[in-house]
Amino acid sequence: MTTADTGPGQATPASASAGAGGPAAATGGSLRLRGVGMDYQRPARRRGARGDAEADGAPAGHVPALADVDLAVEPGEFVCIVGASGSGKSTLLRLVAGLIRPTSGEVTLDGVPIDGPGPQRGLVSQTGSLFPWRTAAANVAFGLELVGLSRAERARRVAWYLREVGLEQFADRLPGQLSGGQRQRVAIARALACEPRVVLLDEPFGALDVQTKEDMQLFLRQVWADTGTTVLMVTHDVEEAVFLGQRVVVLASDPGRVVADLPVRLPADRDHATRRDPRFLALRAEVEDLVRAHHRAHDARAAMVGQRAGGQPAGARQ
Ligand SMILES: Nc1ncnc2c1ncn2[C@@H]1O[C@H](COP(=O)(O)OP(=O)(O)O)[C@@H](O)[C@H]1O
Ligand SMILES: [Mg+2]
Repeated sequence: MTTADTGPGQATPASASAGAGGPAAATGGSLRLRGVGMDYQRPARRRGARGDAEADGAPAGHVPALADVDLAVEPGEFVCIVGASGSGKSTLLRLVAGLIRPTSGEVTLDGVPIDGPGPQRGLVSQTGSLFPWRTAAANVAFGLELVGLSRAERARRVAWYLREVGLEQFADRLPGQLSGGQRQRVAIARALACEPRVVLLDEPFGALDVQTKEDMQLFLRQVWADTGTTVLMVTHDVEEAVFLGQRVVVLASDPGRVVADLPVRLPADRDHATRRDPRFLALRAEVEDLVRAHHRAHDARAAMVGQRAGGQPAGARQ
């Protein structure tokens, strides 16, 4: 396990104040998806009682969630993937996390194929999925116990990462005694504590109110600057993607595929004024149009599938 005595390169309030005992500078984190496809198996759905949206009589078969996805993320990059609901965002992150295997193509980290979950890839979900019976500190320690670090090293990392997310005074609180934003900070600290080569975030702020979400976005940019880690985040929120990312990758639906990969030409120092920057507004509009265009195509196809499956279009019912 490589752990440097000092924090990573950039001197920031968080890393400067910690002195010895800071995190290792991130190493590696070069992620590649080549020709990645993912089909889920869907069981046949019985035609059922009225009001059951699932009971449309659809036959068993493949659900193509992703098709022919090529994506490269370089070490230390912050890439946001944006797309409508159902465009395969979570599927893509689950593939990189090693929770599922692609039907075709390959996913590699630093040239090595991903064949299961591992501590080099920390995943944070929308709800954080903390263990409710563990304190904040014990949640952050969880992954460190799995990789067998000594008690002293665990304590050092837990203290460092709780301080990095501004929660050192909440170490002994249970998740139920924390706000939604604080719980997500613990989840991010838990992912960072393993010093992963890439942090994967699946709509991590989707359940938070607008003010908390904006605070968390600034916080995440700061953590990224402090740790130098590679970040791959998915969100349906275009504004969030443009505000956070150095690149925004747009997914279309049915099947999920990359339709645009756009650089975000904004200063590295982002704050609330960034949201009024003409370059920000122009890119946000461009990405919104792309997401909307590809979502419409999805709606139109879904309506045709509904008709073929034997249902009449809603307007035709008398
Ligand atoms: N476990 C699963 N079994 C069958 N289909 C799934 C499963 N998970 C996701 N899907 C389908 O795959 C597509 C992409 O889903 P997902 O990756 O969750 O999209 P997103 O995160 O963008 O909303 C959707 O059509 C969804 O219904
Ligand atoms: Mg999702």
